[in-house]
Amino acid sequence: MKIVIVACLLASLGFSSVIDDFLSSLKQEAIKENPSFKEFDYKRGEELFLSKHIGKKGELISCASCHGTDLNKSNQNYFTGKTIDALSPKANQKRFTDKADIEKWLKRNFNDVYNREGTAIEKGDVVTYIINK
Ligand code: HEC
Repeated sequence: MKIVIVACLLASLGFSSVIDDFLSSLKQEAIKENPSFKEFDYKRGEELFLSKHIGKKGELISCASCHGTDLNKSNQNYFTGKTIDALSPKANQKRFTDKADIEKWLKRNFNDVYNREGTAIEKGDVVTYIINK
């Protein structure tokens, strides 16, 4: 029993430190992008996640086209139809546990939807939305 409790504690600490580290490094970058930057913003993140754009493949899509609007549920990839597990860390413990993975997918997925990489402010806003939704 004790081992289970310790393992759970470590897992939860692991989660929060990856996400905290990631957001605080984005914040440093965000201040360089805009010296008057204050905080990442859920509302701006929501707008980024839900608004549609002509993406890399020439189709009008949003982040929600692949991840759905209920981030606690799995959804089908818009192009391949493959199931993508829930994006919210509340529903899916594997989310936001590996910084390299988060960065890789944000870079790729911003390109899919916005035809460019996200700025630090955009990435911080959208992650703030995803983890709190
Ligand atoms: C064309 C489909 C598609 C679109 C559009 C898309 N994603 Fe993804 N996303 C994926 C796939 C596939 C993965 C990797 C598989 C997985 O993690 O389940 C992924 C993974 C992620 C992850 C990794 C999370 C983690 O730690 O496991 C994040 C964050 C993410 N997407 C955010 C976004 C954001 C923000 C947008 C909009 C800018 C977006 N995605 C648009 C398909 C998409």
